[in-house]
Amino acid sequence: MAKLDILRYPDPRLYTRAKRVGIIDERIQRLVADMAETMYAAPGIGLAATQVDRHIQLIIVDTSENQNDLRVFINPELIFSEGDAEREEGCLSVPGIYDKVHRAERIRVRAQGLDGKTFELDADGLLGLCIQHEMDHLLGKVFVQYLSPLKQTRIRNKMKKRLRETM
Ligand code: NI
Repeated sequence: MAKLDILRYPDPRLYTRAKRVGIIDERIQRLVADMAETMYAAPGIGLAATQVDRHIQLIIVDTSENQNDLRVFINPELIFSEGDAEREEGCLSVPGIYDKVHRAERIRVRAQGLDGKTFELDADGLLGLCIQHEMDHLLGKVFVQYLSPLKQTRIRNKMKKRLRETM
């Protein structure tokens, strides 16, 4: 396993739309293992392949308290959503920035697991919001894009300044 580099907002590669995964082979399994190591080390509760510059429809999520319940969603589709929930979100691609985002309160997602089998999952609470956040990454969307233009500009400037300081 290896830790991967996480793209930082506003890196334009984060705006890439991910392609469907065809065959779930050992390369995908290795990528999931590497992504899990990267997410747990960060530490974070979710990671999309987009964020490690792999533009395929793959997300991983672990919202369990002990970080021992890794969920893998390949080619995830939202097949149902209802309600409105607001929660403060953060993102490993936008470190140090947290803000409130509205999302559906309950969702049903259909996806394939690492075994290639299709499954459906009903999710609400933190898990539901986290899945929606990660699925957005596959569409090339970062959570800050839900915020006001003024806030987005401030965040972009902050991130660029930080990038210059670390180079
Ligand atoms: Ni994110």
